[in-house]
Amino acid sequence: MEKPWSGRFSEETDEFVEEFTESVSFDKELALEDIKQDIAHVRTLQRAGVLSKEESRKIIEGLESIRKDIEEGRFKWRRELEDVHMNIEAELINRIGDLGGKLHTGRSRNDQVTTDERLYLKKEIESIVQLLKELRRSLVKAAGNSVDVVLPAYTHLQRAQPIRLAHYFLSFREAFLKDTERFLDCYRRADELTLGSGAVAGVDFPLDRHYTAELLGFNRVVRNSIYATADRDFIAEFLFACALTGMHLSRLSEDLIIWASEEFGYLDLPDKLCTGSSIMPQKKNPDVLELIRGKTGRLYGNLVSLLTTLKGLPTAYNRDLQEDKEPLFDSVRTLKGSLIGMRKVIEGLKVREHRMYSNAGNFVLITDVANYLVQKGVPFRKAHHIAGSIVAYLIEKGKRLEEISLEELKNFSELFEEDVFELFKPEVVADRRRTYGGTSKESVLGMVEVAKREEGLV
Ligand code: ARG
Repeated sequence: MEKPWSGRFSEETDEFVEEFTESVSFDKELALEDIKQDIAHVRTLQRAGVLSKEESRKIIEGLESIRKDIEEGRFKWRRELEDVHMNIEAELINRIGDLGGKLHTGRSRNDQVTTDERLYLKKEIESIVQLLKELRRSLVKAAGNSVDVVLPAYTHLQRAQPIRLAHYFLSFREAFLKDTERFLDCYRRADELTLGSGAVAGVDFPLDRHYTAELLGFNRVVRNSIYATADRDFIAEFLFACALTGMHLSRLSEDLIIWASEEFGYLDLPDKLCTGSSIMPQKKNPDVLELIRGKTGRLYGNLVSLLTTLKGLPTAYNRDLQEDKEPLFDSVRTLKGSLIGMRKVIEGLKVREHRMYSNAGNFVLITDVANYLVQKGVPFRKAHHIAGSIVAYLIEKGKRLEEISLEELKNFSELFEEDVFELFKPEVVADRRRTYGGTSKESVLGMVEVAKREEGLV
């Protein structure tokens, strides 16, 4: 088949080369964006007096019939035509004749491809931001239901201090809020029209780029044609936002996976989100969470892949840039799936509060025993040492903190009185952390209210 660029060639393309260089097998994902921009470009050409009214009407009609076929899955993509852009243009010429050949006036695939990508990215960021919102809402609801559930927080995966479970859920809601801000920020920078930059230097037809931007819903017009065609920074930062969101999802997955183990026994995951083992009948595996954790590897990989492709490219467009698309599409698909999966898990979690509570006592309360002495004037470092000796003593005796007597305590410090026993309840200790952002009931209730309001839940 004759290529749109065959003029200066005297040999047919090697078949291997055809297969090696094609991108239509994946960039057809951009087909609807491509047609949208084609139509805007035709209107701009008409406004510039390059196309007559009648010509634009016919071209747009042809493009719309192609769009319909694509939407209905009837369009035949041809590998010999390399990419989505040349497939659509060739089919347009096929349908409306030579006039279709006027579509590519004043345009290069170099500005065309980034315009498609920017349109695509804006659309996908909107949908990711929506999925993030749904996930945040599920976390806020879970927090609203777990203000009175107390469990140990871990540091170094060792029991550290009692917290309210709501405080934990809100911690990830906070992280996903930051992720959302990153996506919105990325959206702002993607929101620039690159069409009209030509191959690298601009266009020699009087195109009103601000008019095109308006037609395509871009907020601004890119100010430099070289930057516009050479750079993929807007995709790299999107992939970074995906990678970071993946990191948050992965950490949350890991917590929930270990909490659902028999050893922790803090959670039950809904059957409908787990799978069994083909050999061990007792197994109920948290596969959704494991895959969310596992797929984070791809999100990182896609970022590194693009950054590596971009590094060291001579200005401006090089075919290497075609390699930006598969990581982009893969991250979009992967992240969207993970966000949906995580929301389903959060909505279906059953918390075993007693089990959490019973692990939140004993030495988890010891920091506050030290602070009890501090409040009575003992320097913190010394109080810390005394409390540590109490722990060592109890381990030696095989006793829990709650079992110690005032007499035994007095052996460590004369300052202990009856009121120290009030500290032997996890919820009391949690509620002493009243600083802004801390885990006291008062503070957590306030934060749940703020979150509900921010998420439009009240
Ligand atoms: N398929 C190409 C890409 O994705 C489109 C741009 C090709 N431009 C070129 N001069 N060969 O990058």
